Amino acid sequence: MTYQNILFEELEAGIHLLTVNRPKALNALNAETLDEIAAALARVGQDPAARVLLVTGAGDKAFVAGADIAQMQAFDSARAQAFSERGNRTFRAIELLPVPAIALVNGYALGGGCELAMACDWAIASERALFGQPEVNLGVVAGFGGTQRLPRLVGRSLAMELLTTGRLVKADEALRIGLVTQVVAPEQLRDKGLELARTIAAKGPAAVRLTKQIVQRGQDMDLVNACQQEAFAFGLCCATEDQKEGMQAFLDKRPAKFHGR
Ligand code: CAA
Repeated sequence: MTYQNILFEELEAGIHLLTVNRPKALNALNAETLDEIAAALARVGQDPAARVLLVTGAGDKAFVAGADIAQMQAFDSARAQAFSERGNRTFRAIELLPVPAIALVNGYALGGGCELAMACDWAIASERALFGQPEVNLGVVAGFGGTQRLPRLVGRSLAMELLTTGRLVKADEALRIGLVTQVVAPEQLRDKGLELARTIAAKGPAAVRLTKQIVQRGQDMDLVNACQQEAFAFGLCCATEDQKEGMQAFLDKRPAKFHGR
């Protein structure tokens, strides 16, 4: 498949990079871009050798400056709802992806851009990053999961403040409130993302995949059932050669060599 609005590449074995690529519109998400993201996610999801997905925006100004306002302006209610459902479906697919997804936030992450970063398993940011849910300025609510993921990430009070005032959050505050896990210089962002991806790719693949699955599913479960799915996954890991290798390597005082079996 050829893409018009995203770049999708395998940087190294198992490490995929998805770049939203509409820099002239600050990488705004229109319906076509959402569909291309969904197609790329499906490719990663179907690849048994995939280890990590990195997500970023093209250019040095924006990660994603939101859903495409030019496209949305003429929406009637039915089209708006369908667009919101399309975005929500696409972003949910990131959470359902079998491998971790890390957002590399290189600039504006507004509206749908903040929502894209939050749908990833975690985000790291450049010092230039700016986050926010400014939809109320446009007379709409957030439409790609922001009203739900923001309170889950930063707590209800702060989420309500941000969602109703449209206040923008700089990288240092984003770090403090838990929107991102680290902030780096702009020129280090990609290397830092790659370093994280390499670290993860060197671990037991089944353990990493199962960790993502049980963390993501566990968010919507009660604690007893969530811990039960953890026990089940722990049992599954112990049916792999990689578990035998990982534990034997520890006992032998040598690095483990995982083979994904
Ligand atoms: N949709 C469509 N086009 C956008 C856009 C968006 N979300 N954000 C920026 N652009 C376009 C601008 O229209 C402009 O295009 P032209 O050059 O053709 O005029 C180009 O990108 C550059 O933008 P600016 O000239 O505005 O750049 P700036 O540096 O002066 O300002 C900015 C940058 C503060 C991010 C400003 O562009 C801005 O406020 N953008 C909109 C942010 C926003 O409101 N996002 C939420 C969208 S709604 C949403 O996302 C709903 C949802 O939850 C699904």
